[in-house]
Amino acid sequence: MSRKAGRHNKNTRRPGDHFYNAARDQGYAARSIFKLQEIQNKYGIFPAKSGRITPFYVLDLGCSPGSWMQFASNLLTEKDRIIGIDIAKININDPKVIFIQESVFNMDPAALLEHTGNRKFDLVLSDMAPKTSGIKLQDQQRSLDLCLEALNIASRVLRKNGSMLVKIFQGPDTATYFDDLKKLFKNVKRIKPESSRKESFEMYILATEFLSSDGDIQS
Ligand SMILES: C[S@@+](CC[C@H](N)C(=O)[O-])C[C@H]1O[C@@H](n2cnc3c(N)ncnc32)[C@H](O)[C@@H]1O
Repeated sequence: MSRKAGRHNKNTRRPGDHFYNAARDQGYAARSIFKLQEIQNKYGIFPAKSGRITPFYVLDLGCSPGSWMQFASNLLTEKDRIIGIDIAKININDPKVIFIQESVFNMDPAALLEHTGNRKFDLVLSDMAPKTSGIKLQDQQRSLDLCLEALNIASRVLRKNGSMLVKIFQGPDTATYFDDLKKLFKNVKRIKPESSRKESFEMYILATEFLSSDGDIQS
């Protein structure tokens, strides 16, 4: 890869890419929006706005530049909240969004609940990706470290029956991570969205029906 190409953020800048152009034309901060849109269309991870009494809380780990928050915000009501965490800034002005500029490795998960009035999250998203080095095994390991931290946080702040969507760079330990999720969630599935670049070794894992700490499933 040339040095010039290497400077592009894979998610936000690749002029000529269909999804990049579509995201820009529709006012979204990144092409990643289309992956979440596909997953929402197929699996309905955000609830319908109508007929809902309790607010819906989303934790978005690795939220910058913010296309997932923009997409989520359109699906949510004024009572709902999206708490976004990233080491990079965002430029989103939305009353439903609370942004914390921090690395997930420095977060106290319990402190996140201060933003929700101590109510646990309904959905934890992690689209986190490490800065890629081009060394496959190293990039896979860094992605796994982010996924493990996302799971650590989710297991502390997710409500019973809540869901988690996490991006992982597929590698030797993906199956073990998948098994870890299966111990904590009733349903776990692999997803490779159409809008994910074919050459990319990323995939998403959707885990639903988070089990309680005592192993019960809330009915
Ligand atoms: C693919 S981008 C996320 C795109 C986002 N979903 C959107 O729709 O705009 C991956 C993000 O993970 C973030 N990230 C990487 N390591 C992180 C860490 N340790 N803590 C928090 N965020 C991290 C990066 O800064 C980057 O913004």
